[in-house]
Amino acid sequence: MKKIFPCVVGLGYVGLPVFISLKKKFQVIGFDIDKKRVQDLNHQIDVNNEFKNYQLKLSNKSIITNKESNLKKCNFFIVTVPTPINNNKIPNLRYIVSAFKTIGKYIKKDDIIFLESTVFPGTTEYICKKIIKKNKNVKFHIGYSSERINPGDKIHNISKINKVVSIKHNKKIIPSIKKVYNCISKKIIMTENIKEAELSKLIENTQRDLNIALMNELMILCHKTNLDFNEVIRLAKTKWNFLNFSPGLVGGHCLPVDPYYLSYYANKFNFKTKVTLAGRNTNNSMEKFIYEKICKKIINKKMINKKIIIAGLTYKPNVADLRNSLANKIFKRLKKLVPSIVAYDPTINHNLAKKLNIETNFKNIKKADMFIILVQHNKFKNIYMHVKKYKNKKILDFHS
Ligand SMILES: NC(=O)c1ccc[n+]([C@@H]2O[C@H](COP(=O)([O-])OP(=O)(O)OC[C@H]3O[C@@H](n4cnc5c(N)ncnc54)[C@H](O)[C@@H]3O)[C@@H](O)[C@H]2O)c1
Repeated sequence: MKKIFPCVVGLGYVGLPVFISLKKKFQVIGFDIDKKRVQDLNHQIDVNNEFKNYQLKLSNKSIITNKESNLKKCNFFIVTVPTPINNNKIPNLRYIVSAFKTIGKYIKKDDIIFLESTVFPGTTEYICKKIIKKNKNVKFHIGYSSERINPGDKIHNISKINKVVSIKHNKKIIPSIKKVYNCISKKIIMTENIKEAELSKLIENTQRDLNIALMNELMILCHKTNLDFNEVIRLAKTKWNFLNFSPGLVGGHCLPVDPYYLSYYANKFNFKTKVTLAGRNTNNSMEKFIYEKICKKIINKKMINKKIIIAGLTYKPNVADLRNSLANKIFKRLKKLVPSIVAYDPTINHNLAKKLNIETNFKNIKKADMFIILVQHNKFKNIYMHVKKYKNKKILDFHS
């Protein structure tokens, strides 16, 4: 087996943990086009607050760079760039295209490339492969490995998650692939069918999105019919095969995006999926539902002239990620209604929070009269403890 020089292309929520796992064993190149991100990481700062300074210390001569020429030496590329949707909900592959164009300049005979971004079936073999082939006429190997990392989750961290690794089998390259992916994950599940692996990732997130949507719909129904949702669920849960999902504000880069990738793929075959996107509107409507609930409570309790804090702006508990966050959208709407309202989120990077006018220090907001909790961060225990001490202070809890 020849010596492996891995390169992780894109050092965000997914790429950085992959890089950190690999640098324990390999000389890795971490490549990102975002100069500021590279600068921060080289100063051992992760603005996503997923890793502490000591975890970002470089080892085995690994480097983090935005200089393409450093890719020359690499022979095992892992691509972890964003895959958003356009305004019309169509997959936007521009980051993938640019990443593969870059790799295409440096690829050598028998190099291995794995795409880890979430994509619709066929992207790896028909889009990514073509970009490389257009650039260089060399024999290379390309595969797909879905990423299941769950930011903010300290239990199911990258080393404890099973990983699907798909590539056309070839005795020559399998040992290198196993060496790299065994260093990242607890267990690898090999398959030769790349399209099936790509689809499996979309299904994982679509299933979750739909299940949360059902719970959201049922919660709204209970609200409208004056029934206690929590009590209804307590009763339903006593059946052995009841699935335990909770209602909530769905955001982030995955759940609000991936069902559209799935339905885009189905559309290409003139197949109109009926269930896949059914939950999207319901999940998005939670912004309006929670907003209106808060407005009612603020007005009923005559709190409009009091000091109100919106606690938690990120898309889910214990992460710093504001992408597609409904909590953040609710805050922006409330701010228009009650300009004195203040946002507090200690999970967000301090400098970014400053720019966005978000408080991160509890001391600066503790005098408030009402705390509206939109995201249930672990760090909010102090709010509950604080409010308990005062009769005139209130908490409104809308946790997702
Ligand atoms: N965030 C999650 O929880 C999660 C979980 C599983 C899968 N995914 C998937 O992983 C992929 C990456 O998501 P993410 O959350 O890590 O995104 P991210 O925005 O946090 O990170 C992506 C990084 O890629 C960099 N980048 C963009 N174009 C580049 C290029 N051409 N060359 C080098 N770097 C480039 C960006 O600067 C950014 O730092 C997406 O497809 C997403 O659906 C995300």
